[in-house]
Amino acid sequence: MASVSNTSIDTAEPEEQASSGPRHVAIIMDGNGRWAQARGRPRLFGHHAGARRVREIVECCPQYGVKYLTIFAFSTENWKRTQVEISGLMSLFRRYISKEMKALALRNVRVRFIGDRLRLDAKLVQLMDELEHETEANEGIHLTIALNYGGRDEVARATKRLAQDVASGQLSPEDVNEETLPRYLDTHVLPDPDLVIRTSGEARISNFLLWQSAYAEYEFTDTLWPDFTSEELGRLCRKFGSRERRFGAVST
Ligand code: IPE
Ligand code: IPE
Ligand code: MG
Repeated sequence: MASVSNTSIDTAEPEEQASSGPRHVAIIMDGNGRWAQARGRPRLFGHHAGARRVREIVECCPQYGVKYLTIFAFSTENWKRTQVEISGLMSLFRRYISKEMKALALRNVRVRFIGDRLRLDAKLVQLMDELEHETEANEGIHLTIALNYGGRDEVARATKRLAQDVASGQLSPEDVNEETLPRYLDTHVLPDPDLVIRTSGEARISNFLLWQSAYAEYEFTDTLWPDFTSEELGRLCRKFGSRERRFGAVST
C-alpha cells in the first residue's frame, strides 16, 4: 500500500462544501471478484485492489463535505464463501489495519468497526481494538468499517441486550421506542446515512444498515469497486444535493 503521509485531514475548509451534500455516505463495496475475473486473476487479487481503493475514497471525503464514511467490508453472509477466500480476506483485513494504522491516525481519521466480533479471530479483533484506540481522539473523518456485519444480526443482538435491560428493570417496556432502540445498535454514536452507494451494478442492499437507512437516498453504479474513483464519489454527492428529501412530508 502507499507510503504514509502525515498530512492531516481537516474538514474546516472543504473545497466543495455543499450544505446540501451528504454528511454521511455508506458504501457497499461490491465487484472485487468480477474485477479480478475480468483480468483472469483469482478473486483475492480483486480484494487487494479494492482495499487499495479505500484510501483515496477516505481522503477525498472532506472535499465533498462528507464527515462520516461507512464501508461494508465483510457481511455475516460472506462466511458462505470458500475457505480460501475467507482466510485470504481475513489476512487482508489484518494486513490493511497494520499497514494503515499510522496513516489513519496521522490523518485525523477516527476509525470504528461495526459487526459481530465474536466470530473473528483473536489477532484480528486485537488489531481492530488497537486501531479504534489509536484514532479515538481524531475528528476529521469518521470512518466506520462494517466487518462481519449484517443488519438483521445487528438488530437481533441489539434486541437481546435491550431485553436483558428490560428483564433487569433498567428499561421499562413503555420506554422501548424509535429513540431508545437505536441506542443498542452498533451504530449508536453515528448519524443515519444520507446516501448509500452500491458499486458493481447490483440493485440490492444485502443486509446493510437496515434500520439506519430508512430514509437514505440510494445510488447504484455499474462501476466495480476497484475502479471507483473520488471523481465518481463527487458526482454522486452532487447528484444527492439536487434531490429533495421529504421524509414523508409534502414539499413546500
Ligand atoms: C465485494 O466484492 C467484497 C466482499 C463481499 C468481501 P465481491 O467479492 O462480492 O465481488 P463480486 O460481487 O463477486 O464481483
Ligand atoms: C455485499 O456484497 C457485502 C459486501 C460488500 C461486504 P455481496 O457480494 O456479499 O452481496 P450479494 O451476495 O451479491 O448480495
Ligand atoms: Mg459481490
